Amino acid sequence: MRVFVAGGTGVIGRQLVPRLVARGHQVTATTTNATRLEMLRKLGANGVVMDGLDAVAVGEAVAAARPDAIVHQMTGLSEAHAGKPNMRRPDRFFAITNRLRGEGTDHLLAAAAATGVATFVAQSAAIFSGIRVASSVKTEQDPLDEVAGTEAINHLEGVVVKAGGAVLRYGGLYGPGATDDQVKLVRKRLYPLVGGGTGYFSWVHTGDAASATVLAVEQKARGVFNIVDDEPAPVSQWLPHLAECAGAKPPRRLPAWLARMLAGEMMVDMMTNKGRGFANAKAKRELGWQLRYPSWRDGFREEFACPACEANDPDTTADDASRRNNRS
Ligand SMILES: NC(=O)c1ccc[n+]([C@@H]2O[C@H](COP(=O)([O-])OP(=O)(O)OC[C@H]3O[C@@H](n4cnc5c(N)ncnc54)[C@H](OP(=O)(O)O)[C@@H]3O)[C@@H](O)[C@H]2O)c1
Repeated sequence: MRVFVAGGTGVIGRQLVPRLVARGHQVTATTTNATRLEMLRKLGANGVVMDGLDAVAVGEAVAAARPDAIVHQMTGLSEAHAGKPNMRRPDRFFAITNRLRGEGTDHLLAAAAATGVATFVAQSAAIFSGIRVASSVKTEQDPLDEVAGTEAINHLEGVVVKAGGAVLRYGGLYGPGATDDQVKLVRKRLYPLVGGGTGYFSWVHTGDAASATVLAVEQKARGVFNIVDDEPAPVSQWLPHLAECAGAKPPRRLPAWLARMLAGEMMVDMMTNKGRGFANAKAKRELGWQLRYPSWRDGFREEFACPACEANDPDTTADDASRRNNRS
C-alpha cells in the first residue's frame, strides 16, 4: 500500500514508519521542520514538510502522495510545540494538540475524500479521559469524559468513525524518547505518589502501539480500539516499579490538596480515584494484535533498567539484557 503518515517524526511515527516499510509499504511521512526530513529518509520514508493546520498544504501533500491509506499521528505535545509542560494550564499545554485533533483531522479527512482514500487511522488517547463512574477499567463501549485540555478528542473520534475510519486510543506511552521527561523527574524524586495512588492507568509500549497501527492500516479497520497493555494498574503499583527500574529511590508521597496546588487538578485526578484504565480485548480479538510487552512490569524493566538496578534485581536475566540491547 501507499501510506501517508501525518506526523512521522513523533514517538509513535518513529516506530510506525520503519514497521510499515518492513512490511513492504511505500511510506510518505510528514514533519513541520525541514531539518527532520533526513530522519524520515533514514526511517525509510519519503519525507514531506507539511503544517497540518494549513488546509491547502494538507490537500497538496496528500494529493502528491496518492496514498491508499492515511494515518493521523499529529500532536503538539513535545516541548518544541507546546513549550514547557504545565499541567496547571492544560488549556495552554494542549492548545496545538486540540487544534491538530480538530482542524487537523478535518483537513486530512477532506484531503482523503478529495483523493478517494478509503482507509483512515487516527491517534486518540486512553489516558486522562476514561469516564469517571463505575468500573476502574473501560472498554470501547464506554464514553470518554471531556477533561480539560482534551476537548477535541470527541470531535476526532466522531468524524473519523463517521468517515469509516479507525480510532486508536493509545494508553500512556513508554518506549524510546516517550517518557524521558517523566523519568528525569522520577530520578530526582520530583514525581510524587499523590494521595493513595488509587487512580488506574493503562500503559502501552510505543513499539506495540505501532504494531497495532500497522494492523489497523492493513486490515482497513473501522471503529474505536483501545491500544493498551494487558494490565491496567493503580499508580500506587506502577510508579514505585518505574522508580525501581529507573534506579531511583521510591517516590515521595504527597497529599492531594498539596499536589493540587503544586501540579494542578489534572495530575491529582489521574493519580487518585478518578483515574481509569482501559481494556484491550477488542484490539486483540479483531485485529489479531499480539503485544511484545503485555505488561508494563516487564516493559519498564527493559526500557528503564540501568546497570545498578539490574545488579540488585534477581529477576533480571541475561535474556532480558540481550533483548534490551536488540530492541528497536
Ligand atoms: N497517548 C499518549 O500517552 C501520548 C500520545 C502522544 C504523545 N505522547 C507524549 O507526548 C510527548 C511528545 O510526543 P511526540 O514526541 O510524539 O511529539 P509531538 O510534538 O507531539 O509530535 C508528534 C508528531 O506531530 C507532528 N506535528 C506537530 N505539530 C504539527 C503540525 N502543526 N502539523 C503537522 N504535524 C505536526 C510532529 O512533527 P514535527 O515535530 O517533526 O514537526 C510529530 O511528527 C512524548 O513524551 C510522548 O510520549 C503521549
